[in-house]
Amino acid sequence: MAAEIRGRGTLDRLSYYIHGQAGSVADYLLQGILTTLLGGVPGLPGIALRGLFYRLMLQMDGFAAVEGGVRLRHARGIRLGRNVYLDQGVYLHACPQGIEIGADTYVMHNAELHVFNFRDLPHAFIRVGRGTFIGESVVIRGQGGVSIGDSVLIAPQAKILAVNHNFADVLRPVIDQGITGKGIVIEDGAWIGAGATVVDGVRIGKGSVIGANAVVTKDVPAYCLAVGVPARVIRHLDEAARWPLQNGRQETMRLVTSDQ
Ligand SMILES: CC(C)(COP(=O)(O)OP(=O)(O)OC[C@H]1O[C@@H](n2cnc3c(N)ncnc32)[C@H](O)[C@@H]1OP(=O)(O)O)[C@@H](O)C(=O)NCCC(=O)NCCS
Repeated sequence: MAAEIRGRGTLDRLSYYIHGQAGSVADYLLQGILTTLLGGVPGLPGIALRGLFYRLMLQMDGFAAVEGGVRLRHARGIRLGRNVYLDQGVYLHACPQGIEIGADTYVMHNAELHVFNFRDLPHAFIRVGRGTFIGESVVIRGQGGVSIGDSVLIAPQAKILAVNHNFADVLRPVIDQGITGKGIVIEDGAWIGAGATVVDGVRIGKGSVIGANAVVTKDVPAYCLAVGVPARVIRHLDEAARWPLQNGRQETMRLVTSDQ
């Protein structure tokens, strides 16, 4: 962001600041009024008031539970599904193409979902499916577009970064060389371990597991366990699904099961 504004005058900086917060001055004021009046109201009364009145500045399907101290920017571009839960300290910045969070998804303490598209990349967004869990202090950057499926589990402090800085020109600082964003896809039912980093351009297949602190630099196919830096697939989780039965049909059970 600093690169675009360097060397500009005070009015330009003010306008840049406001447009970093909201799509228009009117939206900026509405956001400010609602979050100042209601953003700190504690407990259930606060959740009820925000559930009723935050829909004036963002899109809410049914009722979403927004705890106190949630920071919302470009709120007009945020859509929350029914029963979404935003824990205290969550930061959603939807500039400008939006953040969509599906029904029954939990976003936990201090998680940050930031589309961060101040340089007009064409496919910037963050979309999260239904019944997904985004753990404490997870960071998601959506410049290239981030699509997260249904029932995905993202453990604390994972980072999903759909952006890279250009760095080929050694005569200029990296901050002045622009960015690229190809996008990241995390398919249904995957589990991203604590502290793992997923870099731009990666697709993580359905039901796959990424070990804690892995750095995922290449696609991980469906139903695989990948660990390490860089992440390597060390096991296929669906061997059982590939075992042919006596009569030639495919068995559909999986090696990985749980009680639920
Ligand atoms: C990957 C994980 C799920 C373990 O799966 P597992 O099937 O029990 O795997 P194993 O413990 O048998 O390990 C298999 C191999 O991978 C290695 N390994 C396991 N986890 C690893 C990790 N995070 N990073 C690097 N290597 C790892 C093991 O050392 C072992 O290596 P070896 O065969 O050379 O001995 C677990 O280690 C992990 O990373 N969990 C994430 C925890 C988390 O984020 N919790 C938050 C809850 S939301």
